Amino acid sequence: RRVAILISGRGSNMASLIEAARAVDFPAEIALVLSNRPDAEGLERAKEAGIATCAIDHKAFPDRESFERALDAALREHDIAFICLAGFMRVLTERFVERWSGRMVNIHPSLLPLYRGTQTHRRALADGVLVHGCTVHFVVPELDAGPIIAQAAVPVVPGDTEESLAARVIVQEHRLYPQALRMICDGTARLEDGRVAFARGW
Ligand code: GRF
Repeated sequence: RRVAILISGRGSNMASLIEAARAVDFPAEIALVLSNRPDAEGLERAKEAGIATCAIDHKAFPDRESFERALDAALREHDIAFICLAGFMRVLTERFVERWSGRMVNIHPSLLPLYRGTQTHRRALADGVLVHGCTVHFVVPELDAGPIIAQAAVPVVPGDTEESLAARVIVQEHRLYPQALRMICDGTARLEDGRVAFARGW
């Protein structure tokens, strides 16, 4: 399966997916890294790894629809079958999301359904939760609300700051995302009637 990773920034999750996909038995190929920000750090990292890259600056388009038409054209051009959102900071229209239904996943830095949206670590600390983490989910039109494929939890410890908590979570993100992509691409997990169906024996 030819996979595109969509980014907007540093691309550390992207790097972990590229690294994992180097394994000979990995059931997917990272065929494209696409950024809506031409200056995204991740683009350089992807190039260094020998992956095709593409920058489509959303600011160059009058509306979301025309931006997404350009996205679609690039995805078609590279014959992409599956999308991983990895720190991609543009909200996608319902139309685009529906078209990629069951074929687009995202990683989010919280234990969903808690803390959808931004500033997840800050909000977790403010609430005094003792367990936090990250989630990989299928993308649905509602933000951060799609069926859950995999989660990893970390403890919140006394003295934690937003930075220390984020650092603990990102380690798990880098482990979880490749694992989840593997499960989807080898058929262990798939979207069925709006829920994630796991293969028997898993
Ligand atoms: C990660 O925390 C991810 O969960 C969130 O955005 C951040 C992206 O970081 N969606 P990176 O660009 O992968 O380093």
